[in-house]
Amino acid sequence: MNDVVLITGATSGFGRAAARRFAKEGWSLILAGRRQERLQELKEELSQVVPVHTVALDVRDAEAVKQAIADLPGEFRPIKSLINNAGLALAPKPSQEVDLADWHTMIDTNVTGLVNVTHAVLPSLIEVGKGASIVNLGSVAGQWPYPGGHVYGATKAFVQQFTYNLRCDLLGTGVRVTDIAPGMAETEFTLVRTGGDQAASDKLYSGTTPLEPEDIAELIYYTASLPAHININRLEVMPTRQAWSAFAIDRD
Ligand SMILES: NC(=O)c1ccc[n+]([C@@H]2O[C@H](COP(=O)([O-])OP(=O)(O)OC[C@H]3O[C@@H](n4cnc5c(N)ncnc54)[C@H](OP(=O)(O)O)[C@@H]3O)[C@@H](O)[C@H]2O)c1
Repeated sequence: MNDVVLITGATSGFGRAAARRFAKEGWSLILAGRRQERLQELKEELSQVVPVHTVALDVRDAEAVKQAIADLPGEFRPIKSLINNAGLALAPKPSQEVDLADWHTMIDTNVTGLVNVTHAVLPSLIEVGKGASIVNLGSVAGQWPYPGGHVYGATKAFVQQFTYNLRCDLLGTGVRVTDIAPGMAETEFTLVRTGGDQAASDKLYSGTTPLEPEDIAELIYYTASLPAHININRLEVMPTRQAWSAFAIDRD
């Protein structure tokens, strides 16, 4: 029987690249995201290689998540690896100018959505035990503050601490848990963050060398396929051409 991976946010960016990476190694894929057409396209591409089950799913909907896991066909269980990748940033402007609804959307997706999926999949991962893994997509924003990071960075700090706390509870089950925290990577992330501003997205990535979705997919696969006795707790990765900056000072 193939190993089974569930990837949330498989319709774009890191999630789609990870789907291709796991397929290359013969894993059966459960691919989730809201955009049905994108899921269908990916299914057509990858089911040539491995069994693929797609689920059009909003991770914010706890009941739908629970039902989707309960309805998995027999050949897609138990799940050996959960890639909690679905997420988004919104409103790259000062906190005092942000719509409250945008803060709620980030919390509902990056925090509530991530715990919804984790809660639903944990029994399956524990059934697999040794060698099973959860890979959570955090961010450098969870560790390092920056202007306009507000609730996005806070949700990713949650992801880091939830990862560590899960590790404590899962000790003895064999299930590994990792927070992969990328820096700047070129995906649809900035397009979503800017409300569809393609020029703003292009500008951010131009003249430098951001991470590619395939770079992160490689790290996700690496983390999930390490020998069963190794747990990477947190993996922070930036483009070589990105670093921190000095403290900002308000002056007279
Ligand atoms: N790109 C970066 O610079 C960067 C850096 C650090 C961390 N990250 C994190 O990496 C993860 C993937 O981001 P990405 O860069 O690959 O961005 P992306 O290209 O915009 O992909 C985001 C994915 O999340 C899914 N998603 C969003 N809201 C969802 C919801 N409510 N329910 C289900 N799926 C949902 C989207 O699918 P649908 O729209 O089809 O639902 C999409 O597949 C995110 O957690 C992000 O915070 C990104």
